Amino acid sequence: MVNDRKVAVVGCGFVGSSSAFALMQSGLFSEMVLIDVDRARAEGEALDISHGAPFAHPMRIYAGDYEDAADAAIIVVTAGAAQKPGETRLDLVNKNVAIYRSIIPRIREVGFEGILLIVSNPVDVLTYAAIKMSGLPESRVIGSGTVLDTARLQEALGDHLGVDPRDVEAYIIGEHGDSELAVWSSADVAGVPLEDFCEMRGHFDHEATEARIVDEVRHAAYEIIARKYATYYGIAMSVQRLCRAIMGDEKCILPVSSLMVGEYGLSDIAISMPTIIGRGGIECRVPISLDDEELGELHRSAAALSEVIDRAQLR
Ligand SMILES: NC(=O)c1ccc[n+]([C@@H]2O[C@H](COP(=O)([O-])OP(=O)(O)OC[C@H]3O[C@@H](n4cnc5c(N)ncnc54)[C@H](O)[C@@H]3O)[C@@H](O)[C@H]2O)c1
Repeated sequence: MVNDRKVAVVGCGFVGSSSAFALMQSGLFSEMVLIDVDRARAEGEALDISHGAPFAHPMRIYAGDYEDAADAAIIVVTAGAAQKPGETRLDLVNKNVAIYRSIIPRIREVGFEGILLIVSNPVDVLTYAAIKMSGLPESRVIGSGTVLDTARLQEALGDHLGVDPRDVEAYIIGEHGDSELAVWSSADVAGVPLEDFCEMRGHFDHEATEARIVDEVRHAAYEIIARKYATYYGIAMSVQRLCRAIMGDEKCILPVSSLMVGEYGLSDIAISMPTIIGRGGIECRVPISLDDEELGELHRSAAALSEVIDRAQLR
């Protein structure tokens, strides 16, 4: 039986604890289990975060084990090594696949029937690994994918155009990593094609601006890690947004990573594209139109991921 008021977070480092903090404030759940190999860390975070609950929503927050997470509606997995300065997300693959081999089978053993939200990097490869290791239907294994990158894109465009970033309809798709791409061809603001909106706001140098902004988005994590050694607030809000979409059965469209089954000619990899998210998890992928250059970039991104999946012997 799934308890709709319960969430679990596996991995209580920067990302896990920030996500737990964001979830405590969200009011979406009344019970939260924190799990970490470092039990003391999970206990400390549970105590600290629970002391904020009286200012937000009543919630039972405690350090626990996989048995405690068996009936959770969502398990958020953030465990694993993080990028060090100069490291790419794909560099983390062997360490984090090994960590996932010690986590996902435990989740399977306790009979978890909820939704697995994968956040650790490289998130696309680990989402694929979690689908294989968990035995869960693929609709219930969601990678946070390019949700954060898309927020970074909206933020940058909102700033450039002097408009609320939430009104910017533009996606980053592909790998959550160096090969991701912005879908400029179908981007718009309030239904006005992006380039027309830019001109309306006095910006005419489209190619250079697009190249600058996508480069900033691709390198955002590197810039943050170079300065403060980790990124966590943006991803924590992305986790909260995804949990809200799931628990509210919102049917909203977010660019999560999930198993491709022939979309754009891609299959047997997990990669991000806009997707309808509801209480059942992945409801339907939305094949937004891509121009030839974008399609080529997406295929190159998928090929890079496919090679890593092979090297990690996950197939
Ligand atoms: N998807 C995204 O957009 C995104 C954004 C930022 C970070 N990340 C990723 O999130 C992950 C965590 O980053 P972080 O900065 O919190 O790292 P961190 O080192 O601060 O925390 C990792 C935590 O995982 C725990 N852990 C390790 N092995 C475990 C196991 N077998 N079982 C349970 N817990 C285990 C550690 O004890 C630690 O508390 C990294 O892989 C990072 O790259 C993803």
